[in-house]
Amino acid sequence: MSMLASPLKPSVAGPSKLAAAAARRFATSSPARLATPVNAKLQHLKEFKIYRWNPDKPAEKPRLQTYTLDLNACGPMVLDALIKIKNEHDPTLTFRRSCREGICGSCAMNIDGVNTLACLCRIEKKGDTKIYPLPHMHIVKDLVPDLTQFYKQYKSIEPYLKSKNPPEKGEHLQSQEDRRKLDGLYECILCASCQGSCPSYWWNSDEYLGPAVLMQAYRWMADSRDSYGDERREKLENTFSLYRCHTIFNCTRTCPKGLNPAKAIAQIKKDLAVGPPAISKRPVIAEA
Ligand code: SF4
Ligand code: FES
Repeated sequence: MSMLASPLKPSVAGPSKLAAAAARRFATSSPARLATPVNAKLQHLKEFKIYRWNPDKPAEKPRLQTYTLDLNACGPMVLDALIKIKNEHDPTLTFRRSCREGICGSCAMNIDGVNTLACLCRIEKKGDTKIYPLPHMHIVKDLVPDLTQFYKQYKSIEPYLKSKNPPEKGEHLQSQEDRRKLDGLYECILCASCQGSCPSYWWNSDEYLGPAVLMQAYRWMADSRDSYGDERREKLENTFSLYRCHTIFNCTRTCPKGLNPAKAIAQIKKDLAVGPPAISKRPVIAEA
């Protein structure tokens, strides 16, 4: 008698298969990989090498500390990995984050050599990942850079509307066309990724304003409701504030929001050289 089961007859599952099927029953509409309990999956281990420095132990040099995570039990973004490390492995690891969706700008850091936002950066599946704070900035602790100078410079450009003819009542109105001139400028979240990628800023951050701050200076020069464009430009006309930009383009290359600070800076230089165009003739920085 043949020992082969008839292909038409359902085969009878053993006790272990029945248990696995029962475990999956709650999620029949999900892909099989999601229905499989996490602890039954193969582990996908990956190393994260993270910059550590503690101001309370000034005699200890900065170092890279290695953490190993199972990517099958971790969210997809680098910020997910950092939060998992802090929650489950090492509560002393220090980093900034808030919105976890690319809006607040808190989680800017250098990941595998690129300044970016940890919450928008997918974990590379292969190899290890090295994480440092934004380069060439003083460090408060671990991955937290000291942004005091950055905010001081931002404050210096008076980043708010200044009008000589405010409306008697109601809002400052603006045509849709004039509003478009702010596209590619107002979206900046002041994460400072571009500042930390700019060699000119590395060497002259005490006097050169840097790409993010200059782009915000231009944001107000380009605003049809602002009356102080000439004064704003005049303040930049010195050796360092603006002209330390040597059009290296690292800022535009690294911006995690896809903005173009180099183009805004070039426009300020052009306006200073040949005079600013009428508001209606201003270029839209967001356009290629
Ligand atoms: S221009 Fe881009 S990189 Fe620079 S601060 Fe703004 S969002 Fe960040
Ligand atoms: S946590 Fe807000 S931008 Fe990343």
